[in-house]
Amino acid sequence: MLQQKTGVGVIGCGTISDVYLTNIKEHYHNLEVIACADMYPEKAEQTKEKYGIPTACTPEELLADEKIEIVLNLTVPAVHYQINMQILNAGKHVYCEKPLALSLEEADTIVNTAREKGLLAVSAPDTFLGAGAQTCRKLLDEGTIGRPVGFTANMVAPGHELWHPAPAFYYKKGAGPMLDMGPYYITTLVSLLGPIQRISCFAVAGKTCREIQGKMVETEVPTHYAGIMEFACKAVGNINMSFDVWDSDLPMLEIYGTDGALSVPDPNMFGGEVKIYSGKKLKSMVDAETRPHPAKLMTMVSRKGECSERVDLLFPADPDPRCNMRGLGLSDMARALKNNRASRLNSELSRHVVEALAAFQIAADTNTVYEMKTTCKRPEAMPEGLMLWDTE
Ligand SMILES: NC(=O)c1ccc[n+]([C@@H]2O[C@H](COP(=O)([O-])OP(=O)(O)OC[C@H]3O[C@@H](n4cnc5c(N)ncnc54)[C@H](O)[C@@H]3O)[C@@H](O)[C@H]2O)c1
Repeated sequence: MLQQKTGVGVIGCGTISDVYLTNIKEHYHNLEVIACADMYPEKAEQTKEKYGIPTACTPEELLADEKIEIVLNLTVPAVHYQINMQILNAGKHVYCEKPLALSLEEADTIVNTAREKGLLAVSAPDTFLGAGAQTCRKLLDEGTIGRPVGFTANMVAPGHELWHPAPAFYYKKGAGPMLDMGPYYITTLVSLLGPIQRISCFAVAGKTCREIQGKMVETEVPTHYAGIMEFACKAVGNINMSFDVWDSDLPMLEIYGTDGALSVPDPNMFGGEVKIYSGKKLKSMVDAETRPHPAKLMTMVSRKGECSERVDLLFPADPDPRCNMRGLGLSDMARALKNNRASRLNSELSRHVVEALAAFQIAADTNTVYEMKTTCKRPEAMPEGLMLWDTE
């Protein structure tokens, strides 16, 4: 049966809006963009022309449009809270680019308002719904590496000024590498391991000023975070989020289990390469070594690389591992609302992630271990047998 499309309004016609609008037009056929708005009317007008959107208007006019059910908030993080509250108060569901808000208090207000009004307020990322992270989740749930014990998560880069057309906001209050890139890693970890229990962290700014398009911009936030997390399942691990690292061989995300290890692809992408390191294989290689113990040690060290195995993705993926499928979570949310089922991205998950992001800064500022106040369920895994770009 052909279902009616869900009306979407977009506030914020900047860099990332191109990906969403292209994907909605070409792939997420259950969505229809009714209007777009920006604080600069000319940006909304250009976006309307480029994507054939019926209306370019002010955010206020967009919020008054009855055909719009979900508002896609693609503004900068500093105004996410304010705009998310305006959307909810206009009686519409929120799908916000990450993060949902900048503090637990703000996220609480958003989530409680949404609940009172019977609305959803969720935030990106939706990359964890991609074939890479979903394959890892299935492998973990099937016990392929045993019980998860630890992990390492690392997003270490030189800074967004190398590529972004207007990167100054990444160094202002409400941004920095943890709030900007942490959501991908933390949401993926929660999807894989469940809710977080405790967080500690140290943080530093590598440079007091960053050179952005020839001008020196003051750094208002730490740009290198070294955190430790404990999950309710008792897995513990470290997380490095940095705009101060020129290069590194650190893995982006690895999970360590009682029987092996799992290499998770870039949490900022939908596809990528999944690898399993088998403890059993390594043990049998060492056991087969007949010479005395120094040789056994050498076997362990030198043949460790032979125990990793690339796993075919268990869900459909674009041949290009960098294919940007942003909007998958929005499409799923719209389908969930139509079909009266739970959206995979949900308010409790988004709030838990906001609390964790803020917790790294609180732990660093107060030199304490932060005990998480919120929890959430793991978001539903994707079903098998789907077509690419579909969620049900
Ligand atoms: N750029 C990326 O590659 C990327 C990737 C993933 C996620 N994101 C996220 O997407 C969001 C937007 O990032 P971006 O890179 O597109 O930023 P951007 O600065 O390019 O675009 C933001 C847009 O929002 C508009 N805006 C700001 N405040 C507004 C307000 N109060 N009312 C109406 N419009 C307002 C700006 O005029 C601008 O057009 C951020 O949350 C960012 O973390 C960006």
